[in-house]
Amino acid sequence: MSSIPNPKECLVILKKCGCSEEVIKHCLAVRDVAVRIAKKANADVELVEAGALLHDIGRSIPHDTPHVIKGGKIAKKLDLPEEVVRIIERHIGAGLPAKEAKKMGLPERDFLPETLEEKIVCHADSLIDNNKKQKIDHEVEKAKSEGFNEYAKRLVALHKELSEICGMDLNNI
Ligand SMILES: [Fe+2]
Repeated sequence: MSSIPNPKECLVILKKCGCSEEVIKHCLAVRDVAVRIAKKANADVELVEAGALLHDIGRSIPHDTPHVIKGGKIAKKLDLPEEVVRIIERHIGAGLPAKEAKKMGLPERDFLPETLEEKIVCHADSLIDNNKKQKIDHEVEKAKSEGFNEYAKRLVALHKELSEICGMDLNNI
C-alpha cells in the first residue's frame, strides 16, 4: 500500500483521472474547510487533507455507477492507502445505513463515516455547496424537503458532534 499522497500529488491524481475544473474547485473548497476542522479537532490533518482532495475522484467520468462506488474502485486501483479509500467510499453527507442506501440506488450496505477523519470530510462536504461555504441548515432543509428526514437528523447530529469536539459552532468555521 502506498503512503498518503501530499496535496500536490492529489491534484495530479484528480487531473490524471479526468476530473473537471469544477470538480477540482469543489474538492479544494472542501479541503479548506476540512483542514480547518481537522486542526480544531486534533485529527490527522494529512489524512483529512488527502481524503478531502480526493473524495470526489469518482466524479471524474460520467458513469452509471454512483460516484462513491466508482471513486472507491479508482482509489483501490491507484493503490491509495485504505484509510483514504474509506473516506472516498463513505462520504455521503452524514452517511447512510444499508436500508437507506438501497433506496438511493446504492448497494445494500452501510455508508456511515466511522473514524473522526471520515466524519470530518463528510461534514466539510455538507458545509460546501458547490464551492461556497454554506450553513448546515441549508443542507438539512434540502434533505427534509426531499423527504429524507432520517438523513436530515444525522446531518444535525454530526454537526453537533463535531462542533462539540471543536469547541465551536462549525457553521462559523
Ligand atoms: Fe463532494
